[in-house]
Order: sequence, then structure tokens, then C-alpha cells
Amino acid sequence: MRRRSFLALTGLVAGLALAGCGGADGNAGALTFRNPLRIPPVLDPVPGADGVKRYPLRLQEGRTELLPGKTASTWGINGDHLGPTLRAKRGDRVAMSVTNGLGEASTLHWHGMRLPAAMDGGPHQMIQPGGTWSPEWTVDQPAATTWYHPHPHGQTSRHVYRGLAGMFLIDDDHDVALPRDYGTDDIPLIIQDRKFTPDGRLDESFGGTFGLLGDQLLVNGTYDPFFQVTTSRVRFRVLNGSNAHVYTLGFADDRTFHVVASDGGLLAKPAAVQRFRISPGERFEIVAAFTPGEQVLLKSFDGDSEVENGDYDVLKLVAAHQLSPSPELPDHLAHLAPPVEGTTVRTFRLNGTNINGQDMDMSRIDLVVPAGAHEIWELDNVTFSHNFHIHEVSFRVLDLDGGQPPEHLRGAKDTVFVPGKTKARLAVEFGRHADPRTPYMYHCHILKHEDKGMMGQFVIVQPGTEDSTARTLSTGHGHH
Ligand code: C2O
Ligand code: CU
Ligand code: CU
Repeated sequence: MRRRSFLALTGLVAGLALAGCGGADGNAGALTFRNPLRIPPVLDPVPGADGVKRYPLRLQEGRTELLPGKTASTWGINGDHLGPTLRAKRGDRVAMSVTNGLGEASTLHWHGMRLPAAMDGGPHQMIQPGGTWSPEWTVDQPAATTWYHPHPHGQTSRHVYRGLAGMFLIDDDHDVALPRDYGTDDIPLIIQDRKFTPDGRLDESFGGTFGLLGDQLLVNGTYDPFFQVTTSRVRFRVLNGSNAHVYTLGFADDRTFHVVASDGGLLAKPAAVQRFRISPGERFEIVAAFTPGEQVLLKSFDGDSEVENGDYDVLKLVAAHQLSPSPELPDHLAHLAPPVEGTTVRTFRLNGTNINGQDMDMSRIDLVVPAGAHEIWELDNVTFSHNFHIHEVSFRVLDLDGGQPPEHLRGAKDTVFVPGKTKARLAVEFGRHADPRTPYMYHCHILKHEDKGMMGQFVIVQPGTEDSTARTLSTGHGHH
């Protein structure tokens, strides 16, 4: 604000001030990096006699010292704030037991997981206070960094913001020489912005077009964090778990690093970047190299959309004086078939906070998709910034506003940032779990927009039954 009024006063380039350049709201330069980065514990249960891995999860209220010496009311899964890092391997049979210890109903959605709709944890799978929900499925998708968070209709912002989120890592047998020692050289980074009251509680004023854009960052729930690097290369699994904030991440010295994976798994080959943009819900895995004894900041740089508001210091990397050698970065990571461009083309006009002129209706099926389909989804964003997420699917970005996406956006994804007044074209691959009565969601992952109804529902059905599929659901009791 000070910088803006200074510019206005001196009559310098009024347009610059209006554009909000200059990092007025960021935390850059204000941190001391005194807290070791918290690493969420892993939950990877030994299979039972029946071969099933069981994950007990409890949504609960807690109290957390987010800012030093101050206490905030927070929510967590199996703890006071955030949740464990769940881990499973392709082929595993997993059974979740999600108990709601909160004073209100919620859900738990497996964002990025390909599974039957009834197991998805969207707004149709509400868990009442004291209740337990027990979805079960077989993990069948390539290795990826996915995550989980609540999805109660109209309430997702608040539930995620209070701390209900965690990573869900999928491994497979595909052997790639990437750093993989969790907590040592394979590091989760859940980046979330927060606004605090003067006494250190979470400020929950979700006003404005985009809801809350906080002026402080937490990484894995850690304020003012540093990480001690002990290897010559580190893989960071970055998740933007914020409600609306978009980050452009890079290092203070502009060093080159490599993106190795996006939402749905490994890229074909490492993509060299100096910066990359990540919107809420997206994941990118990066590998960065370090030299002994160096210190460097991971930063978020101001951008030109409404959901970026300044320069931020994210995490200080402090390299030990001796680093254990890491594997060389492989030239090739995965075989990615070229995107299949289906013949069905659907258009989604994002206007204000509606999709094709409609708000979410829990009882309306917007789209019926045959199992295993490939479709083209065209997003036409005519107003302000959104980011678009589709449950269950894996998609490839064919083009962004008519141009080829950068290399690191050419892999498998489930969420894409669509800045205001731009278009995106996606080649979407749907799964094979048919269920005509239970919908999956597609929506804007700016949580205030989702809560306002910027969401639609699709069902996956046996091919040939599209026309006979009912387009309405009775949602009287939240179940079919
Ligand atoms: Cu990450 Cu429908 O959500
Ligand atoms: Cu999702
Ligand atoms: Cu939006």
C-alpha cells in the first residue's frame, strides 16, 4: 500500500500502481527461517491377512502454535493440523476408515485418485459428526503425488483452510533413478497461504472475488521454515494447498532446476525451468541440485494474475558442508503415449463464477460419459482467473490460448490454471468404473468459487447407455 500511494503521489506511471506491481503484499525479506520444515509422518500400513491395507483416519479439532508463542484453533487428520502422508503402491487394495470427529459434517476427497465414484469423497459422500465412512478401492494408476481434502458442498474453503489436507503418494514398479528417501531427499512441500489475527489465530474472512489471499505462507504447516539439505540433489513434491493463491516458484539466484512430474505422474523427460507456476490443487515434482555449504531461498515471484499478490520467501535451503551424492538426473522418465484426441468435444464457458451459465445443482447430472472415453474439453474463460479440476480423469493440455503449453505442462494432469480471458484445450481420458447414479465433479479449484457453485457433475456409464441414463438425482438424504 505504501509503495502504491507513493507512486500515486509522485504522479509516476499511474498504470503501474493500478496494476498492483511491486510485491506490495508479499512477505519477502521479513522472515528469519528459524523453524525446521515439518515433514508429515507417513502412513503406509502393512496389509492384513486378506491383503488389504487399512488406513485409519480421523478428522479432528486441535490447537496449533502456527506463529511462535501464539495458539490457533486448527483442524487436522490424526493430529491437530494437516494430515499424514498416505502411501500406497499400484495394485494395492486400500481401505480407508474416515471418522468425523468434528462438530459438523464433512467429507474426504482423494484428489488425483482414479477410483469408483462412490469412493471419491465428493459432496455426495458426507460423513456426519461421529460417523465413519469406509471407501475401498484398488490403486491402479502410475506413480504420482496426489492429495486428499474435504469437499462438503459450500463449505470446502473453511474446512481446507483450517487444516484438513494431506498428501497421498502412489508408487509403482517403474524404476526411475530419482531421489526417493522420504524426508531426506524426497520432500513434500504443501504450500498454503494464511492470514492471521494479531493474536495468531487464523483469520477466516473469505471476502472478495477470490476469497482469502493470505499474506503469510506455511509449508507443511511450518511458519518461517528452513530445510537442511544433505544430498547433492533433492526432489521436492510441491502441492499448492491454498484456497486461491497462485505461486510462481523459483530460487532467489534464478538457478535452473527440473520439473520431473505433474499431477498425474512422471513427465516423459525432465523439463528444465527457472520458474514454474502452480495453482491451487496442482502438484509438480521438481529436482534441484545443491553445492556443499550453500544457502538459497525458494521464492514465489509476483505474477500478472489477480491471484498472485507479491513476492514471497517460501523456504530457506541450507546445504550441509558435505553432501551425499545423488543419482544423475535420468534423460528419460516415463513413456507417455501422445494424447488421444477424442471426437466428442465439450465446451465450458467460465463466466464470473458459473460454468455454461449454470451454478452447481446436487440433483442435476450435467454430463454423461461412456466408460473409457477420450474427449476434448475446451475451456473458455471470459472473465477473471480460474483453475479447472476434473475428478477421476487424467488429462493432457493440448493448448493454452492457442499456443503449445510449456514442456512441464505436457504431462498427465487433473488441474489446470486458466488465467482471465484465456482458453485451454484438454484431451481428457476417463476411467472405466461405471456408476450411473453417483457423479464425479468438475469445478474451479479456487475454493470460494467452488463453494459458490462453480462446479458441475458427470457420471461414467456403460458405453451405449448414455441416452437411457437419468439426468436427475434425488439428493434428499445426501445419498442415492
Ligand atoms: Cu481437490 Cu473436487 O477437488
Ligand atoms: Cu479432485
Ligand atoms: Cu474460479
